[in-house]
Amino acid sequence: MKTRITELLGIQHPIIQGGMHHVGFAELASAVSNAGGLGVITGLTQRTPELLAQEIRRCHAMTTRPFGVNLTFLPTVTSPDYPGYIRAIVDGGIKVVETAGNNPQQWLPALHEAGIKVIHKCTSVRHALKAQAIGCDAVSVDGFECGGHPGEDDVPNFILLPRAADELRIPFVASGGMADGRSLVAALALGAEGINMGTRFIATQEAPVHEAVKQAIVAASELDTRLVMRSLRNTERVLNNAAVERLLEKERRLGAALKIDDILDEVAGVYPRIMKEGAMDAGAWSCGMVAGLIHDVPTVQQLIDRIMAQAHQLITERLARMVA
Ligand SMILES: Cc1cc2nc3c(=O)[nH]c(=O)nc-3n(C[C@H](O)[C@H](O)[C@H](O)COP(=O)(O)O)c2cc1C
Repeated sequence: MKTRITELLGIQHPIIQGGMHHVGFAELASAVSNAGGLGVITGLTQRTPELLAQEIRRCHAMTTRPFGVNLTFLPTVTSPDYPGYIRAIVDGGIKVVETAGNNPQQWLPALHEAGIKVIHKCTSVRHALKAQAIGCDAVSVDGFECGGHPGEDDVPNFILLPRAADELRIPFVASGGMADGRSLVAALALGAEGINMGTRFIATQEAPVHEAVKQAIVAASELDTRLVMRSLRNTERVLNNAAVERLLEKERRLGAALKIDDILDEVAGVYPRIMKEGAMDAGAWSCGMVAGLIHDVPTVQQLIDRIMAQAHQLITERLARMVA
């Protein structure tokens, strides 16, 4: 399939794997790229720029296809060494960067000078237009149903994507709630040039996370996610578990007085315990409503082949029949 995104990124299928903390390692990124999509290493999961450089080298050894790096700009007090991470990306020969979080404007010249395409992930048309104005090459439009941080506007993709299509000149991919060929065809119909998936890629053979994480996604329905940290304006969609229930109880009790310090036990540094050790109740971890559409743990190649086959079949048979 040829779209503005496959052309821009030099990939076979319009399917991107979004950056995921303690999931987006070389094993998953290379598997997605080898299957014809765009795999993405999560920059900040690597604690230092040197470790990121090493992870990029590891990924190059596993695939000859293009892959990207996610750089999330967090509103933290002590900022990570972003110039160092950018250097590791440029020196590592990376050609695509997925930015997320705060405005990436100050980092664009260095990335563009190195011939790197920048896809900014945003949760509103307002932010997508800003990304276009500052020179991003594409955007990833993340609807309210997405795993991770859906922003504070709560606009689902059936509205957000056509709104983005009406306003944007640069190409965009649909992110949040994407799982199969139906998602891809719907996203294309709504104006997107491809899809970005997070949760769906965790439940694959190659995702380097504990089996319990994959099984938790398979077992979950679309009713099993919760929104946490709303009052801190740092809303995150997570899979419900004992820690999340505890966190929500604190949110109810403390109301507007809630501080991040009150919930550190449930949110700080919990990812390695969950993703690596499979301690499923150790804390809150991002998961999309799309869990309700995930019923198996295929290889990445099987997943992507299946998505593309279903999309082709939908377009050439079901939809074609309707207009024949
Ligand atoms: C476990 C997990 C961790 C994530 N970590 C990050 C991250 O570190 N940076 C980022 O930009 N997005 C992160 N995301 C968001 C994904 O890149 C993607 O935008 C999102 O999962 C899309 O929604 P979906 O899960 O419905 O496919 C994360 C998502 C999940 C499920």
